[in-house]
Amino acid sequence: MNHPVAPELAAAWTAVGLPRKHESAELHVLGQATYTDDILEVQGTLHAALGLSAKAHAKFSTIDLTAVRASRGVVAVYTAGDIPGTNDCGPIIHDDPIFADGLVQYVGQPLFVVVADTHDNARRAARLAKVDYDELPAVLTPQAARAAQSYVLPPMKLARGDAQAAFERAPHRVQGELHVGGQEQFYLEGQIAYAIPKEGSGMLVQCSTQHPSEMQHVVAHALGLHSHHVTVECRRMGGGFGGKESQSALWCAASAIAAHKLKRPVKLRADRDDDMLVTGKRHCFHYLYEVGYDDSGKIVAAKVDMVSRAGYSADLSGPVATRAVCHFDNTYYLSDVDIRAACGKTNTQSNTAFRGFGGPQGAIAIEYVIDDIARNLGKDALDIRKLNFYGKTDHNVTPYGQIVVDNVIHELVAQLEESSEYRARRTAIAQFNAGSPVLKKGLALTPVKFGIAFNVTHLNQAGALVHVYVDGSVLVNHGGTEMGQGINTKVMQCVAHELGVDFARVRVSATDTSKVANTSATAASTGADLNGKAAQDAARQIRDRLAAFAATKHGGAAADVRFADDIVYVNGMEIDFPQLVQQAYLARVQLWSDGFYATPGLHWDPKTMTGNPFSYFAYGAAVSEVVVDTLTGEWKLLRAGVLYDAGNSLNPAIDIGQVEGAFIQGMGWLTTEELWWNAGGKLMTHAPSTYKIPAISDCPEDFRVQLFKNRNVADSIHRSKAVGEPPLLLPFSVFFAIRDAVAAVGDNTVNPPLNAPATCEEILKAVCAVQAQAAHKA
Ligand code: MTE
Ligand code: HPA
Ligand code: MOS
Repeated sequence: MNHPVAPELAAAWTAVGLPRKHESAELHVLGQATYTDDILEVQGTLHAALGLSAKAHAKFSTIDLTAVRASRGVVAVYTAGDIPGTNDCGPIIHDDPIFADGLVQYVGQPLFVVVADTHDNARRAARLAKVDYDELPAVLTPQAARAAQSYVLPPMKLARGDAQAAFERAPHRVQGELHVGGQEQFYLEGQIAYAIPKEGSGMLVQCSTQHPSEMQHVVAHALGLHSHHVTVECRRMGGGFGGKESQSALWCAASAIAAHKLKRPVKLRADRDDDMLVTGKRHCFHYLYEVGYDDSGKIVAAKVDMVSRAGYSADLSGPVATRAVCHFDNTYYLSDVDIRAACGKTNTQSNTAFRGFGGPQGAIAIEYVIDDIARNLGKDALDIRKLNFYGKTDHNVTPYGQIVVDNVIHELVAQLEESSEYRARRTAIAQFNAGSPVLKKGLALTPVKFGIAFNVTHLNQAGALVHVYVDGSVLVNHGGTEMGQGINTKVMQCVAHELGVDFARVRVSATDTSKVANTSATAASTGADLNGKAAQDAARQIRDRLAAFAATKHGGAAADVRFADDIVYVNGMEIDFPQLVQQAYLARVQLWSDGFYATPGLHWDPKTMTGNPFSYFAYGAAVSEVVVDTLTGEWKLLRAGVLYDAGNSLNPAIDIGQVEGAFIQGMGWLTTEELWWNAGGKLMTHAPSTYKIPAISDCPEDFRVQLFKNRNVADSIHRSKAVGEPPLLLPFSVFFAIRDAVAAVGDNTVNPPLNAPATCEEILKAVCAVQAQAAHKA
């Protein structure tokens, strides 16, 4: 296409790359941003709550709802048998009932929805059901699932070369196991759906979701209707973090079923404890590894067998495991590898997407191994890391066959090593530790490489709708959803850039399935990449029409018309943008357009687990310094430095915010956030009283976050790179700094058996193990 903005002007004028504040920043801080629960309620609105299973695995034939029905304010109760369509809300494999039917598979599984006049009355009534459970044995851990060969999907395998032979030949070997815990999404706004019946079986569902189109499908199926009957709308979420990619479905379906039956609006807002008891989380992983290496520390063979806690159903566990397999390499070239992953079927919540989507779980295993190797060889782990990095022109093919063409990890790590004074601090810490028997300091610098795109190729598409109104204001609708990550701000910048107008002229409206159809989830960090491109496409079509019209009316060539500074430059004249729009309208020029984008160059063969699943890689590195009290296991992050490759950042202010947020969130995953189920399979850490997310006091006083100067090699939106998930892997550096400090207890001669989360208890256990082993050696 021949676009009219002359290159020199496009270069001089820009709406992208500026550190704009979030488009809703004022509304957020003033408490005026509308979340689903803030939407003014329609007259006649009722409130719902879910009745939950008390058993981890049991058959049941009837539910006695007498007391529920008799409870104050109750209007109706619906169970599986009342669902007009299909009793299913599973995203890929249809093994997720909306309401349990004869079989419960975890404590917290929904059995029914009760509808009452108020939220409190619904919740009170929900507890009064009597169920005769016929208990079955429950599988509660991924290791137990592995032992029982109980999986939600067939196990997967990716191999290159002959890892077993290379392992046997290797000069040195390390074998071990590792457990990395799961994580609750802990979005500040819980799950919520508000279903409003419309004429002729229509249903409007306003909800908090990362995936409006999927919610539309699920509601249509549950009600036995077509997609065109159902409209799903989401203005914003108070956080999603993957927890609202598929698992908003249950809440949408339950509220819509009740609303459909009663012909009244029904709101279902999860209480925090219910939310945590019902919904899936990040998968915990258990690993067995065997790695061979040479005297220098170069890895010559790597075998890993991972099993995740999928929970009772498949949900997104398959794609999560796939991403774990495709991120085991992280930044390292592994010639001979054998990577296996299985999704353990357990009688617990069905685990789901969480920022990083298996990527963090894949990559942390190889980092653990490298940490082992370094200690075994008496070397600095950073040197072992660098030695194993992907090459720029050779040793640059991933185990799944994608060539790494954009490798910047060498220069990125070199820059951070220098700016963080890594070597000097290493020496200073060694000195400190030599003179400090109880408090031990630790330091670690860890790299990240993260593939951007959905592994499933067809999901990499997006649409947008751009309207230019006669007054020159611009309304954008795109298929992405706003969860605080700033997608709307970035898309507005892209549209303002194309039309050459002030940012203030552009507004984004709520995501709405009746405006843009068949959207993908806002996930895999691709939201701005995909929807920015789609909105750019729409805006360009309008701009092209305006340029053609301007040249016809005012002379000159359409190709010479320029849009910049909120002005249209045509044939030596300067016309205000609204003025040209007004003229174009009168001349009957179409002033709105759709736009579409499909990421090129992607392919993936799930059978062989090979292909080109990613559009490009985002890179980063972080260095963390901690101090650990070896008598109590308490610790503090003293300082953290981060360098992240956001390409040509669309918005450095938002991107730095994303990096900081992901870093702290990932630190919580690896340190304080511990999910704990009792012997009966009940999640006991189902509230902030027992589940510890990081607080402001856990953030390092010295926290230096910078963006690495780079330009995406791939033709991404304005050559930017995604930022949503990859920085979640940066706090590996915190975990390995803790492990480094614990190792100091044994003079760095013993590999501390530290699992994640490295809670104070876990740290103390590792300290004791190191002391015992060091004493044994001596
Ligand atoms: N940032 C905020 N503030 N809230 C969120 O829920 N979700 C993360 C990340 N950053 C999230 C967030 C996840 S899991 C993803 S996949 C991306 O944002 C999605 O948005 P994007 O693709 O537009 O970056
Ligand atoms: N990330 C997030 N969600 C997804 C993915 C992914 O890679 N694949 C399918 N759903
Ligand atoms: Mo993010 S886990 O891909 O929603």
